[in-house]
Amino acid sequence: MKGIINALKDEVAISLTSTTSVKELEDLKIEILGKKGKLTDIMKGMRNLSKEERPVIGQLANEVRDFITNEIETKMTELKDTEKTIRMNNETIDISLPGRETGTGRLHPITETMDFLKNIFIEMGFDVAAGPELETTFNNFDALNIPETHPSRDLQDTFYIDDNTVLRTHTSPVQIRYMQNKTAPFRMVCPGKVYRSDYDVSHTPMFHQMEGLMVGENISFANLKAILTEFVNKVFGETNVRFRPHFFPFTEPSAEMDVECVICKGKGCRLCKNTGWLEIMGCGMVDPEVLKSVDYDADKISGFAFGMGIERIAMLRHGIDDLRAFYDNDLRFLKQFNF
Ligand code: DAH
Repeated sequence: MKGIINALKDEVAISLTSTTSVKELEDLKIEILGKKGKLTDIMKGMRNLSKEERPVIGQLANEVRDFITNEIETKMTELKDTEKTIRMNNETIDISLPGRETGTGRLHPITETMDFLKNIFIEMGFDVAAGPELETTFNNFDALNIPETHPSRDLQDTFYIDDNTVLRTHTSPVQIRYMQNKTAPFRMVCPGKVYRSDYDVSHTPMFHQMEGLMVGENISFANLKAILTEFVNKVFGETNVRFRPHFFPFTEPSAEMDVECVICKGKGCRLCKNTGWLEIMGCGMVDPEVLKSVDYDADKISGFAFGMGIERIAMLRHGIDDLRAFYDNDLRFLKQFNF
């Protein structure tokens, strides 16, 4: 037994001198000291020895095990150092190479237009409000005097989440939320995302609107015209505007506001379909039914509301003719806008 143990010690010493990689050394370690290793086997065999022999051989086996373990550890440190040095030499970094350029971000043209429009109203004393994009059917429709039978409730236009919840189809429900939490007089605008199931050159399923609402005593259609005309002049420069009678369930009377065509200045062109005018927003006097739905006294209090599409105004400001370009995320398109 002694002979076997000493022979193993010699065998390991020789193997160690010819081991040149960490991998080889790990294999050797398993071969000798592993669960089924040679030394482990020998130690397991000791239970068959006589009482007298066992402590002597046991001591020798332990000494040899410690010796081998030590030798392997020393060799392992040596080999790892060598391998690391080789790796480091191969991996040198050339710090004189020019760095990779990181592009600077910029505002999306829709964000820029939204901020621009919002700031015009802030200068006119308007508060800025926000509401959730997931809205109750009550706020999105009923409270705004849009009955169950109204075409805009059709499943084709509206994304329903469940029977009582929709992705808001316009920013008008923020009127309701705002009036539920504030008392008149006030003036507010609310820019935000809205959703409709539609997709072509002039429609994307998500787009942006800005809603406005001014409520108090003695607010009249003259106030509506004055504020909105001032707004449009600040957006497009001094320009002619007109109000055409229209219908919205939540305003009475209702109108659509047009600006003189920004391309042909009223002469008639492709953009304005030869009318000389571009429709820019819907507006009107808040319907008393809407005021009642939020418990406002419709005999004392009146107001006007308006709603506009941000994309349309951004297209007119920047001469873009396909709405979908805003959402293709093509950097060549987006990089043209250096705000
Ligand atoms: N909510 C309307 C839409 O999405 C826009 C609108 C029209 C809002 C007239 C108003 C308004 O506040 O008075 O088409």
